[in-house]
Amino acid sequence: MSQGMKAGVIEGCRMPVQRDLEGQFEWHLAEVLSIRDVNNKFEYYVHYIDFNKRLDEWVAAERLDMSKIQFPKKDTKIGTKRSSDSVHNSPDREIVVQNGTAHPSKVTAAIKKMPKIGRKRKGPEMGPEEESQDSSDNAPRQTGSMTVHVKEDKISRIKNIHSIEVGKYRLKPWYFSPYPVELTTYPVVFLCEWCLKYVKSLTCLQRHLTKCQLKYPPGNEIYRKSNISFFEIDGRKNKSYAQNLCLLAKCFLDHKTLYYDTDPFLFYVMTEYDSKGCHLVGYFSKEKESTEDYNVACILTLPPHQRKGFGKLLIEFSYALSKIEGKTGTPEKPLSDLGLLSYRSYWTNAILDIVVNMKPENGQDRPQITINEICEKTSIKKEDVISTLQHLNLINYYKGQYIITLSDEVIDGHKRAMTKRKMRIDPKCLQWTPKDWSKRGKW
Ligand code: ACO
Ligand code: ZN
Repeated sequence: MSQGMKAGVIEGCRMPVQRDLEGQFEWHLAEVLSIRDVNNKFEYYVHYIDFNKRLDEWVAAERLDMSKIQFPKKDTKIGTKRSSDSVHNSPDREIVVQNGTAHPSKVTAAIKKMPKIGRKRKGPEMGPEEESQDSSDNAPRQTGSMTVHVKEDKISRIKNIHSIEVGKYRLKPWYFSPYPVELTTYPVVFLCEWCLKYVKSLTCLQRHLTKCQLKYPPGNEIYRKSNISFFEIDGRKNKSYAQNLCLLAKCFLDHKTLYYDTDPFLFYVMTEYDSKGCHLVGYFSKEKESTEDYNVACILTLPPHQRKGFGKLLIEFSYALSKIEGKTGTPEKPLSDLGLLSYRSYWTNAILDIVVNMKPENGQDRPQITINEICEKTSIKKEDVISTLQHLNLINYYKGQYIITLSDEVIDGHKRAMTKRKMRIDPKCLQWTPKDWSKRGKW
């Protein structure tokens, strides 16, 4: 650290840094978040300004352009202010969304949504293999003072796990996840793909696998069509699984608070079946009771399965549950950049599917539908229907009423998008009755 300072670079300063785009280097303005000494060579943890945090990385001094160094102004808290208030379309650019629209006050949102490190841990002398992961101690949600939050934030800004092996996949985390500190020193963390228990070595995993009985997630299978199943897991009854799932998910979720108290949540885990068992593909969590109509808290497709339509399948499933509940629902805000892309695409498909296929009734010259009817048919909350129609620029105010105008281009685009969507939820394959959690004394 002191040598890093001697060299002129301190935490919080900014300069152009070479970003490695698969062998091709590009200069981008970046902020130094941390400095470390690896075998007497300094490395700098940098955040590329205006880009998503998942691209943050450790770089060697050769990749910094010291001639253009900018020092932090006094009293500026390092890393809390990002100059990324503009909104770009690239998924790796920084976007934060509140109530369906890009929101400039992301700093406030980030402070509110900072991960809470509230989980009780055993002493540091215990290795991950020995550490009880079946913690039945009901870790309270911690509120903590701002000082504690700022301190935690400094740690949680830096990716801590190098890579994770789960089943046949090796995953590279995008963000910090509060696995036990000891695990951060290993090049690979191994996860049992069935119960998601984490261990420090392949030997530990092999030993665990001789004992682990699971071949599918520990919950009720409420949906099955072809090789896709959904399991409903109660965060209170299967605390260990739920916590392990949250730890894994946190590696790819930045905007969300990680709840160690999993009691108030249900987890809907989507799997793909083969002769070995039901393999985890993605999941979403949902509060048992939500006063804000949230039907999804966190949603994730594991990276090897991303961009194949599973995200929209998870989203479609969340609305299928809302439909059975007779409610409209909305995902918890803020949405991530990829979350917004997926939801926008899902909402567009679902809304256009209703309006494109409408026929005029009782001698009307054109079909009529209210926003509320669209909400009822799709289970999408009103504000999301309106924001989607506005985003698509389809809604116009004409002679005292709102009119949706569909061009041939929009209709054709919709038809093409629906042909592309091969995987769909079949409501006939969903066997589920909602529980009224408000009537239960305790979850
Ligand atoms: N770049 C550009 N477009 C993308 C990308 C990407 N990297 N990823 C997904 N999309 C688009 C797809 O093109 C698709 O749109 P289209 O059907 O109109 O072409 C749409 O987003 C959905 O794609 P899917 O393949 O169905 O979604 P996927 O399985 O990749 O999952 C998800 C989407 C869940 C958001 C995934 O990216 C993920 O897990 N990200 C990390 C965690 C996260 O950000 N979760 C959301 C947080 S918000 C919340 O939890 C409420
Ligand atoms: Zn296991």
